[in-house]
Amino acid sequence: METTHRVFVGDSRDLAAIDDDSVELVVTSPPYPMIEMWDELFTALDPAIGDALESGDGRAAFDAMHAQLDRVWAELERVLVDGGIACINVGDATRTVDGSFRVYPNHARVLEAFEARGFDPLPDVLWRKPANSAAKFMGSGMIPPNAYVTLEHEYVLLFRKGGESRGFEPGADRRYEAAYFWEERNRWFTDVWTDVQGELQALGGDAEADLRDRSAAYPLEIPYRLICMYSAYGDTVLDPFWGTGTTTLAAMCAGRHSLGSELEAAFVERFDDRVPDVPALSRSVGRARLERHREFVASRREDGKGFEYEADYYDTPVVTKMERGIRLREVEAIESVDADTDDGNSGDGDEYGYRAEHVPLGPSEDGR
Ligand SMILES: C[S@@+](CC[C@H](N)C(=O)[O-])C[C@H]1O[C@@H](n2cnc3c(N)ncnc32)[C@H](O)[C@@H]1O
Repeated sequence: METTHRVFVGDSRDLAAIDDDSVELVVTSPPYPMIEMWDELFTALDPAIGDALESGDGRAAFDAMHAQLDRVWAELERVLVDGGIACINVGDATRTVDGSFRVYPNHARVLEAFEARGFDPLPDVLWRKPANSAAKFMGSGMIPPNAYVTLEHEYVLLFRKGGESRGFEPGADRRYEAAYFWEERNRWFTDVWTDVQGELQALGGDAEADLRDRSAAYPLEIPYRLICMYSAYGDTVLDPFWGTGTTTLAAMCAGRHSLGSELEAAFVERFDDRVPDVPALSRSVGRARLERHREFVASRREDGKGFEYEADYYDTPVVTKMERGIRLREVEAIESVDADTDDGNSGDGDEYGYRAEHVPLGPSEDGR
């Protein structure tokens, strides 16, 4: 099985390089309005944003920043298939503007924007980030009433385009082989995620960590989980705020095609350094899932509970009939492809392409 991955250096307010109705899933995290690290970027998109911030009009700045995101949401509506899903990771912002502290509710504003475009909101996820230190508390310390709650969660907002879910032919292998384990379903489809630790992010050292900070990258588990939850093999996943390419890495590991678009050429250029690690990363992600499943099997047996079914492709029992066909993939080989050919400007560096060859996940060294 082969997947392709294309990344455009450009502005996602115009995704002309992507056809209508050609994407099954969007997984993304925009720059969060009213978080200071993105002020400059938003001001470059619309100078009126900088003016509003300078004049101390936080509400006007917030609205104008979301107006820029709205243009990207309009493009998502165009490129998503009917029944396709958009997963938007966004956090609210707290900020003092012109001496006045308040929260800017990004999640509510994004929800309104998608609903206004006719998307159906689906139950969303609160991603609870690991707590930092006691020094994090804001406001007037130990005396009421002017201390403020610290935000330690973000949202994964979920939307479906159109009123109906996607259809598949009965028994479609590409859907059944992409099944997840019962216990994964129980963890993943819970509405508060407290267990995203960043442990799958096996790549890189200090330079990689610095890149992730500068780009506000999310941990690999976030897009990987969402891709497994909301797409099948053969689907295409788009990230219009591609950053360091975490969504593409996750799509590669999960055996889906991907598309990305990112304003900052420097982020995109760095991706080539990560590509050689993808086969090992995909193997370790798949093996970690199988290993975790084996731990679940052992603990369920200890609890005196049995299993009715056996997996078709792995030497393990499973709880439900639907899981039997699970077949994880690993990347066996990956190469860069010249993705610039169809605009007649080959090599102009505004588009990057990769082709990955996937094989069923092989046994680990101990033969399991
Ligand atoms: C929160 S970061 C995404 C990080 C990404 N999820 C990752 O794991 O690396 C938002 C990204 O969107 C990019 N961006 C902002 N506005 C954009 C636009 N209009 N078109 C394309 N990219 C944009 C920023 O440069 C930044 O890299």
